[in-house]
Amino acid sequence: MKKILAETEKLMRECGGILISATRTSDMVTAKEGHANFVTTYDKAVQERLRDGLLKILPEAVFVGEEEDLHASIFKGYAFVVDPIDGTTNFIRDYKQSCISVALLKDAEQVMGAVYNPYLDEMFTAVKGEGAYLNGERIHVSSLPLSEGIVIFGTAPYYQELNKRSFDMAYDYFRKSLDIRRSGSSAIDLCSVAAGRAEVFFELRLSPWDYAAGSLIVREAGGKVTTVEGTEISFDKPCSILATNGVKE
Ligand code: IPD
Ligand code: CA
Ligand code: CA
Repeated sequence: MKKILAETEKLMRECGGILISATRTSDMVTAKEGHANFVTTYDKAVQERLRDGLLKILPEAVFVGEEEDLHASIFKGYAFVVDPIDGTTNFIRDYKQSCISVALLKDAEQVMGAVYNPYLDEMFTAVKGEGAYLNGERIHVSSLPLSEGIVIFGTAPYYQELNKRSFDMAYDYFRKSLDIRRSGSSAIDLCSVAAGRAEVFFELRLSPWDYAAGSLIVREAGGKVTTVEGTEISFDKPCSILATNGVKE
């Protein structure tokens, strides 16, 4: 797995270069289904590069990418679950808070995850059972209680029916914590909990490519990841996500 991870990191750094040197043009953006949901020519180009590179690294794997019409089954054998750009709205606006997320599943269980933020040159990685790392240094969740903690939330922007509940929950957390954050990239949010920069992250609906890598990184950093209802998260369909440092309130 170490060799697969090292080769994946190299490929992700190369793709990070594509994001950093992107030229923003008026025709690079297309709207997708749902409120404020966009895709750019860069999402597609990075996904193509990742698909090509990852299937060379592990030819027996299937590839599941966000910008894909057909999603392969993840239940048997290896599957790469990939978000070529997590934080597309940020990317369109050059907000410099986006990343590339690659997870490897085996028989629907996480075995490896990597999230690369090219703007800060931060590579978060984890292999199941071997801990979580940031640029090669071991990372851990914090041990702060919620009352001294930072809570990050995602607004589930593409699902307007969840708006009210998202903000009610955020308000509740705001009252119980130091403060609230919203970054625009759920994969980076999960890594922020893993690195001990925040104590909680929640979002009421995400897709597997948003959290497949980041949730393994949180778990390997000593944190807890479930749905908001406290059940096991799924990698074959969207679900809510609650990631915490595991400290009881
Ligand atoms: C989105 C980001 C955002 C989250 C959305 C995701 P995308 O991913 O992770 O932070 O709030 O729910 O869909 O569309 O930029 O890849
Ligand atoms: Ca995403
Ligand atoms: Ca994306």
